Amino acid sequence: MTRDYVFFFCNGQPIRAKGLEAFQTLSTWLRKERQLTGTKVVCAEGDCGACTVLLGYPRAEKIKYEAVNSCILNVHQLDGLHVITIEGLAWGDRLHPVQQAMRDGFGSQCGYCTPGIVMALAANSLADSESTRTKLTATEALVGNLCRCTGYEAIIDSAEAAKKLSSWKLADQYPPGAIVKQLKEETKLPFGLQEADPALEQGIPRKCWRPRTLRDAIEIKRKHPEARWLAGGTDLCVQINKERIDPKELIATSEISELCGIREVGGHLIFGGNVSWKELEEWALVNWPNLKEMLDLFASPQIRNRGTIAGNLANASPVADSLPWLYVSEAEIGACDGENWRWIPIEKFYKGYKLLDLRPSELIGAIRIQKSHQSLSQRLFKVSKRKDLDISTFTAAIQWQMVEGRFQQIRLAYGGVGPTVIRLHKTEKALRGKECTKDLIEKAGKTAVAEISPISDVRSSNYYRNRLAETILKKFFYEEILLTA
Ligand SMILES: Cc1cc2nc3c(=O)[nH]c(=O)nc-3n(C[C@H](O)[C@H](O)[C@H](O)COP(=O)(O)OP(=O)(O)OC[C@H]3O[C@@H](n4cnc5c(N)ncnc54)[C@H](O)[C@@H]3O)c2cc1C
Ligand code: FES
Ligand code: FES
Repeated sequence: MTRDYVFFFCNGQPIRAKGLEAFQTLSTWLRKERQLTGTKVVCAEGDCGACTVLLGYPRAEKIKYEAVNSCILNVHQLDGLHVITIEGLAWGDRLHPVQQAMRDGFGSQCGYCTPGIVMALAANSLADSESTRTKLTATEALVGNLCRCTGYEAIIDSAEAAKKLSSWKLADQYPPGAIVKQLKEETKLPFGLQEADPALEQGIPRKCWRPRTLRDAIEIKRKHPEARWLAGGTDLCVQINKERIDPKELIATSEISELCGIREVGGHLIFGGNVSWKELEEWALVNWPNLKEMLDLFASPQIRNRGTIAGNLANASPVADSLPWLYVSEAEIGACDGENWRWIPIEKFYKGYKLLDLRPSELIGAIRIQKSHQSLSQRLFKVSKRKDLDISTFTAAIQWQMVEGRFQQIRLAYGGVGPTVIRLHKTEKALRGKECTKDLIEKAGKTAVAEISPISDVRSSNYYRNRLAETILKKFFYEEILLTA
């Protein structure tokens, strides 16, 4: 049995949406169906943050709110959640401290970016402790928000000032008890949605399911082989908005419990396919500090809150930021058909540009890595035109272990230098067992260039990428070997 509508709260009000409404982006729905036009749309691809809202996830009896981009989020993805928009942030006549501080500190001029900036800072102000709310965290919270006219200093100063204003708890404004109770009750059944009655509408109606078990998910996929998997939507919804692709059938994976969480099993770390970059970031902070450095440069908080590991792997961009790390960690991809799991070494998983070893009735269920990789030294590099919120031009991961000045273990992977990320086996062989000297690194650089086949594109020339293949090894040598000797 399924429901034919989605149920969620918007600014404390219960909402049931079905048909066409459920398939709109949240930003369109807010602006057109609810006249909540404070949420702005500029880029419609997750890059500018003008459309930022808070999305609340029930956790036990509380609600955990995070900033997300409403332009790349469908209404059906809100099932069981609470959305707060800029209109719902003020409490009657009282402005939220961030709104008050932005007004007092002249943090807004034309105002077009302001609602998104306020929502991003409001999310930041929900951080657990006062001490973590430093100037730096406000700056990091705004990586996904562009302002073209005010200048960021006034905005960051306003974020600082907001901390000194009265404490404000969303839980007082929107008591979670009643909201969580009603959300749980109304979403007991999974949903199966159809855009419109095909008898009334022209064309093929869109459909969406959100199963709760792997078995149900695969059963739907077998009956609807054309259906696309939908995780966070941060890639797929951009393609829908910008490349005008129009998948008629979607199977949302977010409720499949087998795809959630990070756990240790035997000697392996298992990362569920649904693990978001935000979850991985929190885990890495304690368990894998080098990984945290890469995640700091991964997209923006809004994207990290929604985007998942499985989505990054399945999208298969040769500059996907997670891949070099997964290559040197010799990750295996868990492809699941509902009953059986196949564990495929990541190097074999990619068969060419965007070609995956994934059968039509399989999905990416998890990624596993031998725990022993966690204790090896590792450095991850991302080269892009801008430091923050930019697509990589070139990526690299180096994992090594030195014994008495010699490489006992060494693994190298580069991205952006061919149709897939590659492991540099010949370069590794040239380094393994050798004493790490400047000469050795220079020779290894030449071997690395011979192993790759970069192209020239809008982000860089093949010449530049070939130079990076050499210079990244030199950077590694100076920063990790010489400076730490
Ligand atoms: C503004 C912006 C900035 C970004 N910055 C970065 C960045 O810095 N680095 C980077 O690497 N990426 C970046 N991305 C890309 C994107 O956020 C990531 O690739 C993200 O991990 C995608 O995950 P998702 O859950 O949103 O995938 P979705 O969009 O839901 O899905 C992506 C693809 O994976 C398929 N899929 C989803 N789940 C599964 C599954 N379980 N099994 C099989 N197929 C599946 C979908 O059908 C779709 O084809 C950025 C995107 C945006 C919009
Ligand atoms: S409109 Fe730019 S991120 Fe949504
Ligand atoms: S206030 Fe005009 S774009 Fe930011």
